[in-house]
Amino acid sequence: TQQIAGLVRFQDAVLVRVWYALQRAGITVPFPIRTVRFTDSDRGASAQAESERGRIAALLGHLPLFRELDGAVLLQLAVSVRASKYDAREVLVHEGDHGDSLFVIETGGVRVTKSGEGFGTDAIELARLGPGQFFGEMSLLTGEPRSATVTADAGCEVLVLAREALQPLLEADPSLAGTLSRSIAERSAETEAKLENRREQAKSAPDSGHADSILARIRSFFKLPEPERR
Ligand code: CMP
Repeated sequence: TQQIAGLVRFQDAVLVRVWYALQRAGITVPFPIRTVRFTDSDRGASAQAESERGRIAALLGHLPLFRELDGAVLLQLAVSVRASKYDAREVLVHEGDHGDSLFVIETGGVRVTKSGEGFGTDAIELARLGPGQFFGEMSLLTGEPRSATVTADAGCEVLVLAREALQPLLEADPSLAGTLSRSIAERSAETEAKLENRREQAKSAPDSGHADSILARIRSFFKLPEPERR
């Protein structure tokens, strides 16, 4: 029975991930509840789209990042912004991937980590970000591969801006490029400081670095959870 319970839990976890992925792709699946759609008029649907646009524009307008933009620009922007939901521990951005979108957190939080490869340790936590904060700006603006992995803590909701959406914003608010580049410079410096710190630790205690890497392999082999790092 334990095996069956494990299988059911696994199936459930897979279905939940599939459900989130389909929802993000704009496909609704009528499980685990019945979905009843009222499609009596297109007007209803467009009014709904309109109010969703208004909601997204209002959310964007509250972000310090877009403070300088006026309502019309925000409404324009809201057309090309996608609202997406992620389940707990889903990966939103993979370190090393090509990326051309910027994410703004609407609810929940994410963990930003960098792989510990080369340091013989587990992933290094760079930051935890919450509502109103953004990530993904580095690849979007510099064309470099994603500098870190971003994972949902508990579930989270994000607004996703594609490169095309950003172009008119940069034109509408000349200070925006400056704000974003300052943030990139600050975050890169912070990341570099954390990596340097880790390198120093590895140098001063080579044995423990090696032991850590063996421990990491044992953990992955036995699928043990990663302990909380401070
Ligand atoms: P990008 O490189 O596109 O993808 C990973 C993202 O993680 C990166 O953009 C930043 O938005 C974010 N990030 C990287 N380093 C840090 C850091 N030190 N603090 C906060 N966020 C970071």
